[in-house]
Amino acid sequence: MISTRVATHGPRGSKQASTQFLKTLNGLNTYSAGLRPTFVAIHHVQLAQASQRQFSNTSKTSKIDEFFPQKETDKVRRTPPAWPHPVYSYNDMESVVVAHREAKSLSDKVALLAVKVLRWGLDFATGYKHEKAVALNGKDPEAARKKYAMTEEKYMIRNVFLESVAGVPGMVAGMLRHLHSMRRMKRDNGWIESLLEESFNERMHLLTFLKMSEPGWFMRFLVLGAQGVWCNALFFAYLISPRTVHRFVGYLEEEAVITYTRQIQDLDAGRLPKWEKLQAPQIAIDYWKMPEGNRSMRDLLLYIRADESKHREVNHTLGNLDQVEDPNPYVSEYKDNEKPHPCKDLKFQRPTGWERSDII
Ligand SMILES: [Fe+2]
Ligand SMILES: [Fe+2]
Repeated sequence: MISTRVATHGPRGSKQASTQFLKTLNGLNTYSAGLRPTFVAIHHVQLAQASQRQFSNTSKTSKIDEFFPQKETDKVRRTPPAWPHPVYSYNDMESVVVAHREAKSLSDKVALLAVKVLRWGLDFATGYKHEKAVALNGKDPEAARKKYAMTEEKYMIRNVFLESVAGVPGMVAGMLRHLHSMRRMKRDNGWIESLLEESFNERMHLLTFLKMSEPGWFMRFLVLGAQGVWCNALFFAYLISPRTVHRFVGYLEEEAVITYTRQIQDLDAGRLPKWEKLQAPQIAIDYWKMPEGNRSMRDLLLYIRADESKHREVNHTLGNLDQVEDPNPYVSEYKDNEKPHPCKDLKFQRPTGWERSDII
């Protein structure tokens, strides 16, 4: 059970503690702009709410089970997910690495710049300063921990927000390619399937995190606003240059792999004690087919990071292809099946994407 001091004090206690919390944070972050405390305050309110919930939902009576419960009907037994997830081996998941594809063309550079700007904006808004934290940690670990430490709650807020926007690009691209195929009266060569599957997978990440912490109204408002802007921006961007959008998503997924790698490292280093004994929710166990004995929060982060590495590879690869004529290499059959080629699981990993000349 996640509990904070605030949660035990009731609404009035929460308000007093929030004020104190804000004062403390303002004192710690004197350089921050006026925007920051607002974000922090809302997050704190959310944390107070989240803190009253169990992070594990293995118990039938836990509150989080009621957040989006399975609807019981007279005749339906269960509704399985649309796309079954490939089975990942533990070794393959452990072998996922942080990687960066060098930006070569102008389109690559535009995509990379866009990701850097977005990352900077989100870090600023949520007070996430990994580089500064690492630098200070070298000199004074205790001061670094006090000033910049990411907690389980902060990571969870970040994960919920990021996963809620991560599910948009694949759906927009898939929809546009679907319309394009009908307009041109030609087949799409298998791209739509992988793009929709990617957005489905991102939504499963989100649903999994939502089983662990229910967002407050401010987070819902943020997601709504972000979705409105993000969805429309991607729609026009994909019409103008699909290649740039795939590269952009590839770079975005590089960041996702970094973020989940840090969470795993923090967990291993004992900096996230509340997650140490936490079990993955049932929705995750079913979706990833997590084997008995490998259903911890760490295992869950390994699965999600592996998915992000796959999105990174798929989008960098799609960004290397002819956007109109080439088949989707992730759903194609190969003349020489023994030779390494793109696949849906982690058998042949290519973090910076497959070059067109190697696979088409
Ligand atoms: Fe994700
Ligand atoms: Fe992703």
